[in-house]
Amino acid sequence: MSQLLDKIDKQQLPRHIAIIMDGNGRWAKEKGEDRLFGHVHGVESVRDVVEGCAELGIEYLTLYAFSTENWERPGYEVEGLMELLVVTIRDEAETLHKNNIKLHVIGDMSMLPKHARDELAEALEITKENSGLNLIMALSYSGRWDLLNAVRIIADKVKKNELETEKIDQDVIEKYLCTSGFPDPELMIRTSGEYRISNFLLYQLAYTELYFTEVRWPDFRKENLYEAILDFQNRERRFGKISEQIL
Ligand code: IPE
Ligand code: IPE
Ligand code: MG
Repeated sequence: MSQLLDKIDKQQLPRHIAIIMDGNGRWAKEKGEDRLFGHVHGVESVRDVVEGCAELGIEYLTLYAFSTENWERPGYEVEGLMELLVVTIRDEAETLHKNNIKLHVIGDMSMLPKHARDELAEALEITKENSGLNLIMALSYSGRWDLLNAVRIIADKVKKNELETEKIDQDVIEKYLCTSGFPDPELMIRTSGEYRISNFLLYQLAYTELYFTEVRWPDFRKENLYEAILDFQNRERRFGKISEQIL
């Protein structure tokens, strides 16, 4: 049994953990390998962390796998990543299902190649009745895209007289973000020593605790996840109030 795991207070777990899985390319280059080699190994970390979250009873895990801006990478890397996505989803869908994990995807799916969309649709279908961990894959996602999309839907509703401008509040905005129905993450982890959000969940991270580690994503394992959770459990979340008000 892991010592770190024992130290985690199981009554104070974050309901939702979000991760920017970064550093695959550098990990590979440091080994004298092609960037895609890093992405392939990143899948092992995904497997381990998903298992770790499921074992702990975490309700939601969002993984930032591909950003809107990542489409601008060299063609061979984008194609390699899409292929990896298709193969991984195909190989893992049954395992997710066996472990009662429900898959979700957020992002601009219209950008994905059709065979990737089809593969995802099948995995979503297979896992849709599951009641364990909600695994949310952010693919072709960016926070600004999400907000823009929500604004367009809301504007359209106002135009069609289905919504009054005065009735637009935070609940309405949240309803049209693609994370609708998911609680905001309490903990956001970014690997590989970059200290930025890179257009991840811009609206949803308002009061999220941020955790940064130098560990490159392909080296990240359950133990690293436990470290992040323990760090989180030692934070005081004040939400704008003062210490004495938080009890
Ligand atoms: C994260 O690793 C995976 C994706 C963005 C798809 P990177 O590919 O960004 O790796 P680095 O940051 O270049 O090392
Ligand atoms: C963020 O990482 C996106 C994903 C991990 C999917 P990037 O590597 O694309 O971000 P920047 O370019 O370092 O900000
Ligand atoms: Mg990167």
